[in-house]
Amino acid sequence: MKQVFGVFGDPVSHSLSPAMHNAAISALGMDCIYHAFRVKPEKLEKAILGAEAMGFGGLNLTVPLKEVALKLGCIKPDLLAKRIGAVNTIVFEETGEIRGYNTDGLGAKQALQEAAVEIKGSKIVVAGAGGAARAITFQLAADGAEITIINRTEERAIALAKDISAAALPGKVEGRGLSELKDLLQDANVLINTTTLGMHPNIDSTIATADDLYSELTVFDIVYNPLETRLLREAKASGAKTVSGVSMLVYQGAEAFRLWTGIDPPVELMKKTVLEALQ
Ligand code: ATR
Repeated sequence: MKQVFGVFGDPVSHSLSPAMHNAAISALGMDCIYHAFRVKPEKLEKAILGAEAMGFGGLNLTVPLKEVALKLGCIKPDLLAKRIGAVNTIVFEETGEIRGYNTDGLGAKQALQEAAVEIKGSKIVVAGAGGAARAITFQLAADGAEITIINRTEERAIALAKDISAAALPGKVEGRGLSELKDLLQDANVLINTTTLGMHPNIDSTIATADDLYSELTVFDIVYNPLETRLLREAKASGAKTVSGVSMLVYQGAEAFRLWTGIDPPVELMKKTVLEALQ
């Protein structure tokens, strides 16, 4: 009988995870299927326990369930998921234990590594202080990056930097206002956008223009809808190297796949599938 994997979310019908994971499953010849399920936050615990009872192979969680999952008694989160305050991957152990992980930060790290960025010692400016910034910054600080979080609401950036500093990770983290972007970039290697600026339908907005950027920078926009955001176009115009949000999406999914199956999935095929779905 086919083993079922899935993503729970609400809304979830536009999730790219089914296409991406089913492409990997079929290339590997596995007798499995990955499906999207609409689950409301108040039904999450029942849904997870139901999936466990039915022998699901594993789950992803997306908006608005990642933070809710951390509060459920049935899930044992690992330290990184606890620190981030969100679970995006659930593994059903043979012992009956239900473990929670967060692979978003690892996805971002691997997207940067694919673009030949050496994380340790890098000076990274992270724009935004929401859930995505939190996952990415915890991971990159653990890997020894020196990070400045900048945010429209400066207090949120300062609060996030304080939380991460309290974990005593190898990398230093500071919080500032978004208006300091240009000055901070003079001394940075990488800019990461985690804000919603540039995301459909606000496709003309951007945290920076070509004048703020330069050719030695790597500019990573975690937004993947549209595929090429205004920020990435501005970065290209300045000669900077660019990394698209599709890479992070694919690498966080690949990491989840590894946690469930112990198998390295075909990342290039997963990326091609996502790119085709977004065309
Ligand atoms: P997620 O959890 O997906 O990261 P979020 O928590 O809603 O999303 O965070 C969105 C981020 O985009 C925040 O950092 C937000 O800044 P504020 O904390 O000041 O709200 C940022 N953001 C959204 N709209 C913005 C805008 N028009 N200008 C600048 N930053 C914006």
